[in-house]
Amino acid sequence: VQPRRDAREAARYGRARVMMRPIHRWVWSDPHRRARKLLAFAETEADGGRDLARASELTRDALLRRLYLRHAQDEMRHAEIFRARGRALLASLAKDETSFELNWIAPGERGLDDLRVDAETDESLLAFLHLSERSAAGRFTAYRAALEAEADPDTREVFDTILRDEAFHMNYTYAQLRRVSPRRHGWRLWLARASRFWKAYLRLSSAIAGVLGGIVLVVQYFVLLPPFALLAKRAAKKERDGWSVPQKTRALGSQY
Ligand SMILES: [Fe+2]
Ligand SMILES: [Fe+2]
Repeated sequence: VQPRRDAREAARYGRARVMMRPIHRWVWSDPHRRARKLLAFAETEADGGRDLARASELTRDALLRRLYLRHAQDEMRHAEIFRARGRALLASLAKDETSFELNWIAPGERGLDDLRVDAETDESLLAFLHLSERSAAGRFTAYRAALEAEADPDTREVFDTILRDEAFHMNYTYAQLRRVSPRRHGWRLWLARASRFWKAYLRLSSAIAGVLGGIVLVVQYFVLLPPFALLAKRAAKKERDGWSVPQKTRALGSQY
């Protein structure tokens, strides 16, 4: 059943990628933004490498330990490759004028950013890793294609190199999931997919809440505050100048 489902999903991702192609081209066309995105990807890859090194310490499965360690080394190498290319690109450009990276349109390998390795079992971790490596491979393929129109063969080469490793990560995690959980690997993948969907929903909701919060604060500032400011101004006009004792106040000899 898995290959048929993978083919269906690949077709769906393929369609989504075609729709996103002009946007990706636009995102990657600015060399300043490109350099900053590569540097941001380097951070995420290094973070993933640290999580995988921790996973290799925790697992009791000798084969998985070796594979996680190799995976961690790959992610650390990806971090170095992205960092080196990002720095070289920045150094070749004039002053950085880009103010935003558009990470919500073109994120990197972000699947591991909210992973708590200590709380995972071998099965759940492999399912999670398989899905995040697969979506990272899909994204990097799209970015590689978006760079086709740019005169930047070095960055294209970076994605080519990294994509080969991502394909290996995607395949070994699936093969190992089938080995450690031969009967329930489909269920594990379904759970991991639901968890990723839930996290994506939370990310989207918090982004929308942030925008709505900003709008409400602006409306409050311009609609609710002016009447109070006006009232305060009118009250200030009625005040006498200097130190004065209101008529109703009793003698100053009393404490009250
Ligand atoms: Fe990677
Ligand atoms: Fe990877």
